[in-house]
Amino acid sequence: LDNGLMRTPPMGWLAWERFRCDIDCDNDPKNCISENLFRDMADRLAEDGWKELGYVYVNIDDCWSSMDRDNNGRLQPDPKRFPGGIANLARYLHDRGLKLGIYGDLGTHTCGGYPGTTLDKIQTDAQTFADWGVDMLKLDGCYSNASYQEQGYPLMTKALNATGRPIGYSCSWPAYQGGLPPKVNYTLLGEICNLWRNYGDIQDSWDSVLNIIDWFFDNQDVLQPAAGPGRWNDPDMLIIGDFGLSLDQSRTQMALWAVMAAPLFMSNDLRTLDSSARAILQNRGAIAINQDPMGIQGRRLLKEKNGIEVFWRPLSGSASALVFFSRRDDMPFRYQTSLKQLNYTTGVYEIYDVFIEKPMPTLKDTTEFVVSVNPSGVVMWYVKEAESAHFSEKL
Ligand code: DGJ
Repeated sequence: LDNGLMRTPPMGWLAWERFRCDIDCDNDPKNCISENLFRDMADRLAEDGWKELGYVYVNIDDCWSSMDRDNNGRLQPDPKRFPGGIANLARYLHDRGLKLGIYGDLGTHTCGGYPGTTLDKIQTDAQTFADWGVDMLKLDGCYSNASYQEQGYPLMTKALNATGRPIGYSCSWPAYQGGLPPKVNYTLLGEICNLWRNYGDIQDSWDSVLNIIDWFFDNQDVLQPAAGPGRWNDPDMLIIGDFGLSLDQSRTQMALWAVMAAPLFMSNDLRTLDSSARAILQNRGAIAINQDPMGIQGRRLLKEKNGIEVFWRPLSGSASALVFFSRRDDMPFRYQTSLKQLNYTTGVYEIYDVFIEKPMPTLKDTTEFVVSVNPSGVVMWYVKEAESAHFSEKL
């Protein structure tokens, strides 16, 4: 969507995967969906070095609203859990240099059973969100149908635009249509949404992450060209720092979300995050690759019979990212290849290992090398043409 927003994939925090529809503030006050939870996460983003790295969105998901609209037909937050109101929460975030995302559902109800946005309420809800100072909207698609969505998703683009407030727009539409053409029209999505959920919900497990990785790369011929500045495929939240992933699996999620130019919305508890999860999520190389200004989504280059897969993403400045991933479950696998076998041809390359955070010896395209890839882990490289290569080009 060409609204000037999200020219690189948006980054921040989103409540859903980690905190779901926990509305039991009496018994679980620290974890229930309430203004306190979002304030807590905002404090962490602002004070623990996240904001400076680009993690600026704090996004509310389902179960924030009251069960009834107000007398003017507007959505309203649950008065017990959001006593200060959404506008106040937005101000709290803006004061800290952060942005607020909210959640709606195009249909009669949200997936959690809260009031939905029916077609006749699209304008009202867009205006309400703008009046509150909201910066992003995720529009879910429970309790509606294909023709309803075909009308509603583009109408919301118009309604948000008409408010005059810049509001990033995340559409769950394709996820409700199976994610693939002919049902899904990716050209249209790129025109009306800044990002879109293509596929099912992520859960707190490696199985779920692997399933998402496989679906996105198996369908890369359709999905990869759809992405670009202002329009991103969304394979769903980062679950790094939760309960389901090992250290290596966490690096795999970070690396492949960077290759996919995916939105980076963490869904974890930033108050209790351990230092290894923090290091992965705050890895500057992985973030720089994810945020590359060209905004070209990467691809899987190779799927080897030995369980090694190689991924590649072109980056600005004659650079690229390479990821070696192992699906094996035995021991670190010594994978031998050369840059030439991975389509590199220009001569000499400088290599930076993203997770070791160190430069490696330069590599000629023809030189055979070995990378050791841990089970369900990755080796991620930032690869750049060496200066000497530029010189020889000029000569
Ligand atoms: C389905 C969406 O895909 C999830 O991300 C989450 O928003 C839930 N609905 C909320 O009910």
